Amino acid sequence: MSDIKFDGRVAIVTGAGAGIGKEYALELARRGAKVVVNDLGGTRDGSGASASAADAVVEEIKSAGGEAVANYDNVATMEGGVNIVKTAVDAYGKVDILINNAGILRDKSFLKMTEAEWDAVIGVHLKGAFCVTQPAAKVMKENNYGRIVFTSSTSGLYGNFGQTNYGAAKMGLVGIMNTLKLEMAKYNVKINTIAPTAWTRMTEDVIPEEMGKKMKAQFNVPLVVYLCSEDNQESGKTYVMGAGWYGRSAIVCAPGACLGDTERDIAVEEIRDNFTKIDSLDNAEPANSGSDVFKYMGPLLA
Ligand code: NAI
Repeated sequence: MSDIKFDGRVAIVTGAGAGIGKEYALELARRGAKVVVNDLGGTRDGSGASASAADAVVEEIKSAGGEAVANYDNVATMEGGVNIVKTAVDAYGKVDILINNAGILRDKSFLKMTEAEWDAVIGVHLKGAFCVTQPAAKVMKENNYGRIVFTSSTSGLYGNFGQTNYGAAKMGLVGIMNTLKLEMAKYNVKINTIAPTAWTRMTEDVIPEEMGKKMKAQFNVPLVVYLCSEDNQESGKTYVMGAGWYGRSAIVCAPGACLGDTERDIAVEEIRDNFTKIDSLDNAEPANSGSDVFKYMGPLLA
C-alpha cells in the first residue's frame, strides 16, 4: 500500500498553535502539505491574544523542512475567517483542507451560566466554523476538491455536566455538516466531524492524570489526517476517538410506529399504547438527509 501524501495540497488548521491542532499541522506538513497555522494565542477561556503560539509551530515545521505560514486571526468573526482563508490563498494559491479545531471553554452549570459565557463559546466553536468554512468552501468549489473536518465533542454528542454552551456548539457542528455535505457533494468536497480526546490544557483538570497520560494528542491525528486525504471518500460521518480507540457515532432514525390513516385524529392514548414501539431503536439506521424519514411514513403516504 502506498503512503498517504499531501504533496501539492494546502491545509488550514485553526487553533493549531497548541494541543491537538498543533499535532495535525505537524503531521500534514511532514506528509507534504503546505499549512496555514492559525491561532489567536489566547487563554483557555478565550481571553487575550498572542502571535507566539502559531509562530512556534510554523518554526517547528520549517526547521523540519516543511512549509507553513502563521495566521493570528480570531475564527469567531467573519473578518477573521476570510483573512485566514486569504492567508492560504495569498501564500499558496488555494485551500484543499480545512480542519476546524480552534476551541475554548467557559464551563458553568446551566442555571448559573451568563449570556457572555454562552455567547463566547458558541461564537468560537459554532459561528467560528461558519466564518472559516464558508470562505474556504468557496475556494474548494472553484477547484472541485476539498476535505473539511469539524471538531465536535462527546460533550455535545452525549452530554457533560457544566457544558451546555459547549455541548450546544459542538452538536451544532454536526448540524452544519449534515447539510453542508449535501450542498458540497457535487464539488468533491468531503465533510466529516470528529470528537477527539486528549490530555491538553482544555482537559488537564477534567481527565485524571493517570488516564490523561494515556490520551496523547497524537492518537487523534491518524484518523483526522486520513479524513483529510484523497483516499477518504466518506462524507457526513462522525467519529469518536481517544487513547488509540476509534469508533463511529451516529444519529439514527428508527422505524417507529405508523398510527391512524392520515384522515382521523390520533389520540394521546394511542401514543401511550404504542409507546414501546415508538421508543424502540430496533432496526434504526443513520439517515442521509431529513427526507429519509419519509420512508418510515411510507405506509401512510402511499
Ligand atoms: P487547546 O486549548 O490545547 O487548543 C485550542 C487552540 O485553539 C488554542 O491554541 C487556542 O489559542 C486556539 N483558539 C481558541 N480560540 C481561538 C479563536 N477564536 N481563533 C483562533 N484560535 C483559537 O485545546 P485542545 O484540547 O487541543 O482542543 C482542540 C479542539 O478539540 C477544540 O475544538 C476542543 O473543543 C476539541 N476537543 C478536545 C477534547 C480534548 O479531550 N482535549 C475533547 C473534545 C473536543
